[in-house]
Amino acid sequence: MSTSSHSYPMSSGDDQHSYIYNSSYQKACIDGNEEKTRRYILEKFDLLNLNSDLNTLNIADFGCSIGPNTFHAVQYIIDGVKSTHENRLVPLEFQVFFNDQPNNDFNTLFRTQPASSKGEYFSFGVPGSFHGRVLPRNSIHIGHTSYATHWLSEIPEHVCDKKSPAWNNYYIHCNNLIEDVTKAYKVQFTKDMRVFLEARAEEIVPEGLMIILGQCLPDGVPHSETWQGVVVDMIGDCLMDMAKLGVTTVEAIELFSIPVYFPQFSELEREIEQYRSFTLEMMEIISHPLEDIPLSNEFMTSMFRAIFYTIIKEHFGQGVVDELFDRLAKKLTKYPIDFKKCKKHVNYFMLLKRK
Ligand SMILES: C[S@@+](CC[C@H](N)C(=O)[O-])C[C@H]1O[C@@H](n2cnc3c(N)ncnc32)[C@H](O)[C@@H]1O
Repeated sequence: MSTSSHSYPMSSGDDQHSYIYNSSYQKACIDGNEEKTRRYILEKFDLLNLNSDLNTLNIADFGCSIGPNTFHAVQYIIDGVKSTHENRLVPLEFQVFFNDQPNNDFNTLFRTQPASSKGEYFSFGVPGSFHGRVLPRNSIHIGHTSYATHWLSEIPEHVCDKKSPAWNNYYIHCNNLIEDVTKAYKVQFTKDMRVFLEARAEEIVPEGLMIILGQCLPDGVPHSETWQGVVVDMIGDCLMDMAKLGVTTVEAIELFSIPVYFPQFSELEREIEQYRSFTLEMMEIISHPLEDIPLSNEFMTSMFRAIFYTIIKEHFGQGVVDELFDRLAKKLTKYPIDFKKCKKHVNYFMLLKRK
């Protein structure tokens, strides 16, 4: 059987392996967009037009994980809204809805919430898949999601079926080297993105905003040529080495394919433009503050461990995780990533307005 649960939250808790301490790559981009977030809220968010009697503003972060990035993103939105409506007689109150899969570590999320947020907003946990409604109709004024929508609702059909032309061979992710596999991933991504946006269109009020931040591929660049793709292929090679030693099996690897898809920039833009419930106000490539700095092997190993811990543990068993990432660290030392030669993912910032 291929991996059956479709929910793989980031590494939980607050020990050294937790997403909390291994998400600074994503955080750098969220922080780097603080100014942009404020500016676009100022330009595009007309609270008075929305509802002149409004006293409570509702914000939702979809795929929030366990922090700290979600707290930063939410704070930038609140700061943006506050700066646009400084002269209100009755100050606005804020409610923030933190959404993620039910097996996300919500206890750690709320336990590590910054003290400063207490007087700033009221917090709510919203467990459930964002590939469907998780909040009441017409209830959210500003939605946000970062580094989450590339996670698919399931492994695309046939990529783990050895008899299918869309079989992903011994690769463990969509590296764009097999055309039928790319097609299968793309079909699933298109379906999931549509479901995501249809659900948000119901939840977000007319004139409300949806901010989407994420990573995709530059046009014409296969994932296998990016440093991120190379590292994930290396994780696959480490699993193969472990299968040869009997720590796992080739059969388990054949049935494993990570449900993550990075579209190319224009492909994503075309998809988004099709959704009639939103206008695409802005979509741009943003520079990543760390993009010209070669990352250390330790940094990459810890980051990928935090992201893939749950899916690896569920499919291959807890016992495989430590050895797998030890081996990845060693492989990266033996075959260092050539950051000059490798291509990069691009980071994008997208602003949608509910019609
Ligand atoms: C890489 S983390 C990003 C976390 C945070 N937004 C950030 O920018 O650092 C991706 C998150 O999306 C969540 N996620 C993936 N699929 C989801 C779904 N269908 N519904 C809700 N959350 C989902 C994962 O559980 C994970 O916490």
